[in-house]
Amino acid sequence: MKWSSVISLLLLSNLKLLECRKITKKANALLILADDGGFEMGAYRNRICQTPNLDKLAKKSLIFNNAYTSVSSCSPSRSALLTGMPAHQTGMYGLHQGIHHFNSFDRIQSLPKTLKRNGVRTGIIGKKHVGPKSVYQFDYEQTEENNSILQVGRNITHIKLLAREFLNNTEPFFLYIAFHDPHRCGHTNPEYGEFCEKFGNGDTGMGTIPDWHPIYYQADQIDLPYFVPDTPKARKDMVAQYTTISRLDQGVGVILDELKKSGHLDDTLIIYSSDNGIPFPNGRTNAYDSGIAEPMFISSPVTTDRHNQVTYSLTSLLDIVPTLLDWYGIDSNEIKTPLTGKSLLPLLKNEPTNTTTEAVYVSHTIHEVTMYYPMRAIRTHRYKLIHNINYYAPFPIDQDFYLSLTFQDMLNRTRNHQPLNWFKTLRSYYERPEWELYDLKLDAGELNNLAGKPSYKKIFKELQEKLYNWQKETNDPWLCAPHSILEDAGEFQDNPQCMGLDNVF
Ligand SMILES: *[C@@H]1O[C@H](CO)[C@@H](O)[C@H](O)[C@H]1NC(C)=O
Ligand SMILES: *[C@@H]1O[C@H](CO)[C@@H](O)[C@H](O)[C@H]1NC(C)=O
Ligand SMILES: *[C@@H]1O[C@H](CO)[C@@H](O)[C@H](O)[C@H]1NC(C)=O
Ligand SMILES: *[C@@H]1O[C@H](CO)[C@@H](O)[C@H](O)[C@H]1NC(C)=O
Ligand SMILES: *[C@@H]1O[C@H](CO)[C@@H](O)[C@H](O)[C@H]1NC(C)=O
Repeated sequence: MKWSSVISLLLLSNLKLLECRKITKKANALLILADDGGFEMGAYRNRICQTPNLDKLAKKSLIFNNAYTSVSSCSPSRSALLTGMPAHQTGMYGLHQGIHHFNSFDRIQSLPKTLKRNGVRTGIIGKKHVGPKSVYQFDYEQTEENNSILQVGRNITHIKLLAREFLNNTEPFFLYIAFHDPHRCGHTNPEYGEFCEKFGNGDTGMGTIPDWHPIYYQADQIDLPYFVPDTPKARKDMVAQYTTISRLDQGVGVILDELKKSGHLDDTLIIYSSDNGIPFPNGRTNAYDSGIAEPMFISSPVTTDRHNQVTYSLTSLLDIVPTLLDWYGIDSNEIKTPLTGKSLLPLLKNEPTNTTTEAVYVSHTIHEVTMYYPMRAIRTHRYKLIHNINYYAPFPIDQDFYLSLTFQDMLNRTRNHQPLNWFKTLRSYYERPEWELYDLKLDAGELNNLAGKPSYKKIFKELQEKLYNWQKETNDPWLCAPHSILEDAGEFQDNPQCMGLDNVF
């Protein structure tokens, strides 16, 4: 054979390979993420917060009643969402922006990269907050990296026009719309209010957002979640958040309208969720349910069996990548690291009958760079076990929550020996034991720590072992912390060991 024909054969087989890797299904997906969004919506039985568009989407979705993020912190959660790996496995241990500067390892295979390799056109509109660029690369990007975050994250008219531009294309797509609502903003942009609820509301100097009809709420009418202090200041804070949830909701409405106009309502999988718990005490940055439980809807145009039904199956945001790969028909082995999550598409047909072994896991290490507070946790249907690795240190508070009305009021009340009207004291919130074990059936608020109780010894051991195995499976560098040191190189390469410090007194 002449060289030229060898080369053309090679070229041909390469082309064939490339062709095989193109997805064959006519499949698109839209992932909509709220920023610090919680359950303040009709679909989750909130009586007051007006969310007709989310409620309408919920009616065409399977509604998740047991969905959890693997970490209650923005960038780590988004990196987990876009890789299917917990933060300790991606290297995104804390926030990405400014001095925090966390980034994933260069070798990580992210969802947008894998989709692109398979011929899916990828787009992100809104808050990206992960890096490096080479790992989290989308074909179409309109993010805070080169836009005002208020425009791409909160101006729903602007977001609509960008979505329209992205959707004006015939290739299979993945569109990730990451709203910045209902995140706090009083700490960076106090002129727009605690939650940027004034941005675009038509008042003098605030500009307008043509697609937004602001809704205002009465502080004394709302229902507070059990973990928010019942004080006038916290209520004031919360009604501002409600106003931005309604803006997010109307944003979801205009986006779904754009999807419909583009003709893709019938071939697009729609997922709605949020990155972490709401920015209130015991919420964001915590491993308690109030920090990790997330709203989630999955709306499939092809599997409509369970539209408007609720699933109680324990679900992790780590399941999103396997779900999307399944949806596009892409082999998950393409992501070289084995993933611990599972595709959620089977749930859209049937509720599992035996859920006794279901569990979700948490890996939190840092939020802001100064907030080193590694926690690992496992949650089953009945129990939660939290390992506070740095338990001698007080639980840290982030800058944005610190300046909030709610927290300032808690500090003032504590200083002045006034009642907090809260279910904890600041001291009990800051000071946490190494292990926390809760029976969620009897104690949903996670107040009665059962770790160390002789009658729970067996449960404790079982959960501890499962958690350890998951950490091992996901190569957690904190596997042996804090009482021993992990040695996994040199002579220990094939036989990693936790080597004792003799520091358990
Ligand atoms: C932002 O960057 C992307 C490419 O990374 C580009 O397509 C887009 O037009 C840029 N947007 C602005 C407003 O500069
Ligand atoms: C869609 O794209 C075509 C060309 O690719 C352009 O002519 C048209 O104006 C675009 N429409 C919208 C609504 O952006
Ligand atoms: C929101 O975006 C629209 C369209 O780009 C623009 O006309 C409007 O002025 C923006 N509103 C604000 C408050 O920036
Ligand atoms: C459920 O699964 C567990 C573990 O696989 C098993 O031990 C148990 O017997 C099953 N329960 C039922 C009701 O099938
Ligand atoms: C806390 O107390 C300080 C000083 O007494 C006061 O200026 C501030 O307004 C109070 N803040 C809140 C949120 O109550």
